[in-house]
Amino acid sequence: MKKYNWGIIGTGNIACSFAESLSRVNGEIYGAYNRHLEKAQVFAEKYRVMHVYENLDNLLNDKNIDIIYVSTPHNAHYEMIIKALKAHKHVLCEKAITVNDRQLEEAVAIAKENQLILMEAMTIYHMPLYKQLREIIDSGKIGKVKMIQVNFGSCKEYDVHNRFFSKELAGGALLDIGVYATAFARYFLQSCPNTLITTNQYFETGVDEQSGIIMKNQDGQMVVMALTMRAKQPKRGVVAGEEGYIEVNDYPRASQATLTYTVDGHKEEINAGDTTLGLDYEIIDMQKAIHDGYDSSLQLTRDVMKLLTEVRTQWGMIYPFE
Ligand SMILES: NC(=O)c1ccc[n+]([C@@H]2O[C@H](COP(=O)([O-])OP(=O)(O)OC[C@H]3O[C@@H](n4cnc5c(N)ncnc54)[C@H](OP(=O)(O)O)[C@@H]3O)[C@@H](O)[C@H]2O)c1
Repeated sequence: MKKYNWGIIGTGNIACSFAESLSRVNGEIYGAYNRHLEKAQVFAEKYRVMHVYENLDNLLNDKNIDIIYVSTPHNAHYEMIIKALKAHKHVLCEKAITVNDRQLEEAVAIAKENQLILMEAMTIYHMPLYKQLREIIDSGKIGKVKMIQVNFGSCKEYDVHNRFFSKELAGGALLDIGVYATAFARYFLQSCPNTLITTNQYFETGVDEQSGIIMKNQDGQMVVMALTMRAKQPKRGVVAGEEGYIEVNDYPRASQATLTYTVDGHKEEINAGDTTLGLDYEIIDMQKAIHDGYDSSLQLTRDVMKLLTEVRTQWGMIYPFE
């Protein structure tokens, strides 16, 4: 496979983990840009990045860069994705890929027109465990999937300035953690839900602090989801079929699941991959997608963004920049 050069936009928390993964997978990091140059320089020094750019256009116009990784907060994803695609770069963007489906569909159209790969850095679509669970379900081991129950509770420290609670930065539980729960559910459903009911509780800054979401698709499969940013809950997903169920703990980056056969109660452990390599798998899949000219996870990303947009429409919650 061709050696790909990556350029990183945004050198914050997750970019540091990503840089470690990129060094492991590719051995080198080509370029990085951050809106505050000094921060990019410190990052480059730490992760041995070859080029640092003083402005975004210089990074985007560098002909040696094949792939852009976007790790800015949610509110800035759309702008970075569109600019990178228009500069003819493939894009791997952090979750949630955009803040609504209109932004995403516009980006997908530009990517298609220019034969570029646009992928969301959603661990669930790339962890080996999920590929194995999909095969198990497709083989009929647990019978037809009927119900998916999935929670995400994260007790974020009270700080109205943190991106988690900032409406200007498209914070809130739905886009930050609900995107994982929805991705988990969509991954195991036969089709995208077309019925949805939900209620939420707002935080004092106007972002969604917690919510309950129930979904159903045309195949009669249902999802029950509970999200909160102010109380710890086990990150647990359960996929229940007519003949058994699969439990996945810490599902955003899981390498282990338990399958219980309901007929006699016996259990089977399923192990695949390594939880510490979550971002490595994304990089490998992104490079493979470019090589193959096709990314099977994009449709899942589109379905999830459509659902997240419908949830917010029902709440009547609009970000200030939308
Ligand atoms: N995949 C995962 O496991 C995972 C985990 C955590 C987060 N994430 C996602 O990754 C993204 C970033 O999260 P984070 O926790 O890394 O955030 P962070 O630590 O706040 O870093 C954000 C970076 O983006 C830059 N930035 C902020 N606003 C910008 C703007 N308007 N234009 C250009 N650059 C901007 C910041 O620059 P300055 O510091 O110089 O202002 C900073 O370097 C989010 O979408 C989040 O959901 C993914």
